[in-house]
Amino acid sequence: MSNNTRENFGSKLGAVLAAAGSAVGLGNIWRFPIETGQNGGAAFILIYIGCVLLLGIPIMMSEFLIGRHTQANTAGAYRVLAPGTPWRWVGRLGVLSGFVILSYYSVVAGWTAEYTVLAIGNHFDGKTAADFPAIFAKFVSNPWKSVLWMLGFLMATHFVVIRGVKSGIEKFSKLMMPALFVIMLVLTICSVMLPGSSEGLEFLFRPDFSKITGSVVLSAMGQAFFSLSLGLGCLCTYASYFSKETNIGKTALNVAVIDTMVAIMSGLIIFPAVFNAGYTLDSGDIGPSLLFITMPNVFGQAFGGVPALAYGVSVLFYFLLVLAALTSTISMHEVVTAYVSEEFNTTRRKAALIVTLACSIVGVVCALSFGPFDGVRIFGMSIFDFFDYVASNIMLPLGGMLIAVFAGWYLDKKLVRDEITNRGTLRASYLRLVIFILRYIAPVAIGLILLGQLGVFR
Ligand code: PHE
Repeated sequence: MSNNTRENFGSKLGAVLAAAGSAVGLGNIWRFPIETGQNGGAAFILIYIGCVLLLGIPIMMSEFLIGRHTQANTAGAYRVLAPGTPWRWVGRLGVLSGFVILSYYSVVAGWTAEYTVLAIGNHFDGKTAADFPAIFAKFVSNPWKSVLWMLGFLMATHFVVIRGVKSGIEKFSKLMMPALFVIMLVLTICSVMLPGSSEGLEFLFRPDFSKITGSVVLSAMGQAFFSLSLGLGCLCTYASYFSKETNIGKTALNVAVIDTMVAIMSGLIIFPAVFNAGYTLDSGDIGPSLLFITMPNVFGQAFGGVPALAYGVSVLFYFLLVLAALTSTISMHEVVTAYVSEEFNTTRRKAALIVTLACSIVGVVCALSFGPFDGVRIFGMSIFDFFDYVASNIMLPLGGMLIAVFAGWYLDKKLVRDEITNRGTLRASYLRLVIFILRYIAPVAIGLILLGQLGVFR
């Protein structure tokens, strides 16, 4: 590992925006509204925010301090901090999760690109609700189209990653994150101004506590992990490019606030429009097809009185998804590229090429699981669903739990304190609370998520 050639983020803002770019993605705009819709609305959101504050921020701080202290890729980081112990497997597990998630995430990311092109070509105009399921089914089962879009997305990711940390990832995030925010703001205003938007707002902001069950709490925790990019060393790898002056606690808080704001804004865009178009929560409209079947129809119905507005909103919406997905795929690619390049002593370019090629192969298999490989089942799931299930429901929580135990129990307290206070130059009155959470609350809570996912409470 040659540390002397390692790059750093050029500024604190760049570091925050890159980490926020990783966090903000399909998890916020696609998964969050679905989970909110399926888990009862405002009460779910409150628990979700509780999970972000109580578990998300402390674990994010652990990833940051491990990465920043060692200035190494995530597997290398554990080797440096715990030489000769099995802890290095936590890093390797993270790299593997990054690889798996990148492969299937690129498939959905490719769909967002196809839908951007459809929106630009005004293909949603004049269609009725009955047309959209067929359009979607035809597209995902077309082996060529979905594979090509997936490969295109991986290539775009590849080209940003090979430009390096400062002139690739940081520059791109600094450009994209503000653009994303502006697009979201425009869309939120359009949606909230719709007649009857109050039903959507009420759903999002008036909690019905009778809706809270064990499985709602478990879903909220799982969503927090996925959305904050926790548990696979993504943020650990990005933190290895932080400068010694970066305030770890403040950066974690900023990233969590940005990510949560984007999730809530997605709810504000989607729910008023969905209710306005006459959809209900029980009819199966708020499922995984939300963005590709329900939303194209919503644009026509909700903004149909002004066709130019329906057109503009749909183009902006899908373009927003592409941007959000791209900043996330870049971060997953970077985890694996940094690992291959540093652990196997290859150049960054070669490492990135190996990662892109390997992901393309797994990605093709995932994309084809909607078409020719439709019949292949692993534990009753399609290949795509199996990867999604194993990675986000098992590997991420497991990684997060081990990271909490590592930072809370294994690491020297002085090292943790030094990193969080920047060697005593920052006041961090929350330090003891964070360590308490890492030692006791996080392992128990995440242990419960894992058992819940495995069906122990069913
Ligand atoms: N947080 C990203 C999102 O919300 C997904 C992601 C998960 C990215 C894990 C990196 C690591 O879409």
